[in-house]
Amino acid sequence: MAAKTKTSFVCNECGTLYSKWMGKCDACGAWNSLTEEKQVSVTGKLTGKGQTAELISLDAEISDKPRLDTGLSEFNRVLGGGLVVGSAILIGGDPGIGKSTILMQATAQLSVHHKVLYFSGEESASQIQLRAKRLGHADKKVQIATTGELESIIATIKKERPALVVIDSIQTIFSNQLDSAPGTVSQVRVAAHELIQTAKTTGSALIFVGHVTKDGQIAGPRVLEHMVDTVLYFEGERGGSFRVLRTFKNRFGATNEIGVFEMKDVGLEEVTNPSALFLSERPEGAPGSAVTSCMEGTRPVLVEIQALVSNSNMAQPRRTTLGFDHNRLSMMAAVLDKQAGFTFSSQDIFVNITGGLKVEETAADLALAGALISSLLNKPLEEDRILIGEIGLAGEVRSVSQMEVRLKEAEKLGFKSAVVPKQVAKESKTKLKLIPIERLSEITEKLYD
Ligand code: TYD
Ligand code: MG
Repeated sequence: MAAKTKTSFVCNECGTLYSKWMGKCDACGAWNSLTEEKQVSVTGKLTGKGQTAELISLDAEISDKPRLDTGLSEFNRVLGGGLVVGSAILIGGDPGIGKSTILMQATAQLSVHHKVLYFSGEESASQIQLRAKRLGHADKKVQIATTGELESIIATIKKERPALVVIDSIQTIFSNQLDSAPGTVSQVRVAAHELIQTAKTTGSALIFVGHVTKDGQIAGPRVLEHMVDTVLYFEGERGGSFRVLRTFKNRFGATNEIGVFEMKDVGLEEVTNPSALFLSERPEGAPGSAVTSCMEGTRPVLVEIQALVSNSNMAQPRRTTLGFDHNRLSMMAAVLDKQAGFTFSSQDIFVNITGGLKVEETAADLALAGALISSLLNKPLEEDRILIGEIGLAGEVRSVSQMEVRLKEAEKLGFKSAVVPKQVAKESKTKLKLIPIERLSEITEKLYD
């Protein structure tokens, strides 16, 4: 068998290979996603030699893989209860969001009982040591190496057989067997694949740090996301100090779980009561603000929805959202017009979810409607009233899952009343004063009753 190098084109989105450049990837339909790369291909016949695979019968005894405590309960939570031994994890996020910081904090804790290797292709050893010092972990036993060479990293892992390996970041790793530059699709793919294979043989857990492109995806082929067991995103508002670690995929736990942190001088501090945090700077008596209770994974989190509605002088009024689905807003505005007699169609609308959170649940519909109406009428809602419910196109208010848990959280944070779907009001045992709503046409009176 002989290895041959040739130039080909690879899709950044799905990793499909082409022999010539095309504007659109046939496989995934992405535009302008092909980049040129040198590919090493193997020519000649396969010899058919190889080891037989180990067969395990379906009914064989299985044991749950043990989990390691990262020392950060919010981090453990997003991982589904700790770091699974031997698993591969990808953490994505904007530069400067705190990926290296959270990993230094976690590895420092883990190094107390386990062997941890930290490979950084981005920073010098002294930079990493300085950060560790700042975080109060200068005395911990994390072993750092500042190389990006794949072959050297693999040799080190095989020799040291650590419990955990951190690769900061996958885009800085390069194999000297490939011609392409670090960070290119083929380098990232080969590096990730080889590292995962190596970690399997040594039983090490593997954490990759991944850079995020402008549109918020982890740079490199999407196949990277398929290769690992868990994909986490570290997010936060620019300039703000709150950080949300979010599960995007998890073979060992629930997705949509979030961990909340605050970036302080001495590193990331866990926020164990995110609801209080997200509501802490809520303006008093301001129109256009409404609170709802969203399920983030297994726990309820109270979030403030802010809306600003103003007369539009454009043919197509503006709809701008941060943290809320744009289409859902357009739909809600149309339903309010049609079913409750408002005129949002002639208004510019801006919607913001405070604290950099993203609201994706339909349970937030009622609160969105409340915020819109409150801004339009320039009349603040009751401070201690929460709104939970989905709005249908026919103007009906529908119930949502886990209502008791959501109401309980509101109770805990001092709310006194809740506007909820009629059905819920009949069944709930909450101490909150419940204001049932059946149709959207009743909303104004329910908001201000
Ligand atoms: P970093 O973890 O280097 O981000 P990433 O690895 O995601 O690029 O975090 C960098 C930012 O965090 C930097 O702007 C400084 C800030 N920071 C603090 O505010 N407090 C701290 O204790 C540390 C270590 C960093
Ligand atoms: Mg970093």
